[in-house]
Amino acid sequence: MSGPKPRSDILAITPYVPGKARAKGFAHPIKLSANENPLGASPAAKAAYRATSDELHLYPDARASRLREAIAAKFTLSPDRLIFGCGSDEIFSLACTTLIEPGDNIVQPEYGFAAWAIAARAAGASVRSASERGYTADVDAILAAVDAYTRIVFIANPANPTGTCLRFEEIRRLYQNLRSDVLLLLDEAYAEFVGGFPGFESGLSLARGAANILVTRTFSKAYGLAGLRVGWAYGAQDLILAMDRIRQPFNVSRPAEAAAVAALSDDPFLVQSLAHVERWRPRYAKCLRSVGFKPIASATNFITFEIPAASGWTAASFEAHLAEKGVLVRNLSNYGLPNCLRITIGSDEESRAAFASFAIG
Ligand SMILES: Cc1ncc(COP(=O)(O)O)c(C=O)c1O
Repeated sequence: MSGPKPRSDILAITPYVPGKARAKGFAHPIKLSANENPLGASPAAKAAYRATSDELHLYPDARASRLREAIAAKFTLSPDRLIFGCGSDEIFSLACTTLIEPGDNIVQPEYGFAAWAIAARAAGASVRSASERGYTADVDAILAAVDAYTRIVFIANPANPTGTCLRFEEIRRLYQNLRSDVLLLLDEAYAEFVGGFPGFESGLSLARGAANILVTRTFSKAYGLAGLRVGWAYGAQDLILAMDRIRQPFNVSRPAEAAAVAALSDDPFLVQSLAHVERWRPRYAKCLRSVGFKPIASATNFITFEIPAASGWTAASFEAHLAEKGVLVRNLSNYGLPNCLRITIGSDEESRAAFASFAIG
């Protein structure tokens, strides 16, 4: 018996592979595979979340008005140019569905975040990949990959899965050399972690005066609300209005909106989260180097590292070695990085345990 036939281009999409959450023999493995916040969520956000428990029978506010006002105020943005999503993942899909027609394409750096290509392919686009240099997006290669059918250029700054960061002058150069009918989708999921990287700037300021930039942000990383799924984007009014036509009206739940509003004003928790990452990032790099691996300089809350053949390990064997100790990291073979692994900076305790499991031999 045959059922409805899915589109062949949908069947050609490789599904997203989430970071592993289970290790055999460990009820509570050390999960350093999904770039979550090891300090949890802001206490204020948790309290706000709990306070919505008497409102669960009510639909959410379809415009996420409180969150809209809070973000507009914090980042000095026009509230009408904001859109919210079930994570920034949903915003990638909204942008693709809004702009792409079958036969169009998107351009992304070689190691682009996997959700972009899924959203683009689902909308009927092909994906053109631009070689990177030293695991870093190459603006010239991106521009060279753009053709008459390109509708969106995706780039993350800093990037996942590599962790690398571009100076803002490169992002500006990319924007200045793109046709105005091509959207520059600047994914800033990790922007909060950048700290003192020379020349980094958020694209929000540039987007203020641009018709073809969409900057996406998330509450999943620095704000520790990955489980609630709240992302947002800032772009030109016409694009936002078009995307809003197809957005599921209640895509940000009531508890999620309440928690995000509270998280946004809990500066001490954010500062603590960023300081934690800054404190541990160099220690992870040092520890990885000490066992013969090659960490890639990271501006994020994770470190991706190469496993040279001379170390005696492969990515798969080292991932398995860590899993036996209850430590889960991210395998990057689906990103075309079969000799690399990615590790999220864990809590103090998790980091010490992870380092102990690195003691090889
Ligand atoms: C570069 C990048 N963009 C976007 C996301 C998705 O974030 P969200 O949880 O907001 O959907 C991630 C999550 O890992 C990411 O690494």
